[in-house]
Amino acid sequence: MEYIILNNNQKMPVLGLGTYALRGYECEKCVSEAIEAGYSLIDTARMYGNEKEVGNVIKDAKRESLFITTKLYSPSASYERAKADINSSLDNLQTDYIDMLLIHEPYSESLSMYQAMKEALSAGKVKAIGISNFNKRQYLDFIKHCEVIPALNQVECHVFYRQKELQEILERHNTHMQAWSPFACGKNNFFNNSILKEIGRAYGKTAAQIGLKYLVQQGVSVIPKSSKTQRLKENIDIFDFCLEESDMRKIETLNSNKTLFGWY
Ligand SMILES: NC(=O)c1ccc[n+]([C@@H]2O[C@H](COP(=O)([O-])OP(=O)(O)OC[C@H]3O[C@@H](n4cnc5c(N)ncnc54)[C@H](OP(=O)(O)O)[C@@H]3O)[C@@H](O)[C@H]2O)c1
Repeated sequence: MEYIILNNNQKMPVLGLGTYALRGYECEKCVSEAIEAGYSLIDTARMYGNEKEVGNVIKDAKRESLFITTKLYSPSASYERAKADINSSLDNLQTDYIDMLLIHEPYSESLSMYQAMKEALSAGKVKAIGISNFNKRQYLDFIKHCEVIPALNQVECHVFYRQKELQEILERHNTHMQAWSPFACGKNNFFNNSILKEIGRAYGKTAAQIGLKYLVQQGVSVIPKSSKTQRLKENIDIFDFCLEESDMRKIETLNSNKTLFGWY
């Protein structure tokens, strides 16, 4: 595993497990298998309805070896509700602290929610705070008022929508960019893409592994989701090779600069 150092000096793995759409026993099984396979970052959210399942697994693991991210969404969109829901997430996750707490998307009450997050940070309930799905304008506006610069912004990012300009702006202000749906959730026939497959053949890697390495090699962390044991292992097996510059340039041609999820 490789790590990046966040703006609060916290060490974060560059690759973790996404858990969107993993529910119940399947979620517990995947999180448990992922930890077994060497994952330490687990990305959950109140919206996913699976914090409890993540908690059921991590309560038996060595807590300090893990990095748990969760997110507050619209039901927590006020200072009071965010404050209460941070405690509720701690209960769900069955832990004393959350490694990374994000605002799931911009809300008109984002700054009030962030105030509750800053207090949780001071109280040691949370180790780092950040945001998700903030575009350039929303981010620049937010940092004028937020006082604590977000440690990261988790956004849509994959070979078809690279968001390089956003990454440059975030890094200029000391915020890390993390990619959600790093496989574009399979859209655009990602796993059969001829450029990714052809490059993969030269390194003995799959299209999935090439797509992840492309982002990690440019300083973007990734949280791919899989419910399959073999794929969990495949997705983390990207640290024994380096993409050559010419291959990076070929992959760059896939970028259409357009969201595939219509988020913004
Ligand atoms: N902050 C946000 O607003 C936001 C939004 C979206 C997602 N996220 C986070 O980002 C995580 C990842 O995004 P995502 O789940 O939307 O999509 P993704 O990770 O881009 O893709 C997941 C899909 O790819 C398949 N897959 C995984 N590994 C594979 C492999 N090696 N070969 C072939 N197929 C493979 C999975 O199927 P199987 O499960 O069958 O393997 C699943 O259908 C989420 O789980 C969530 O934690 C955050």
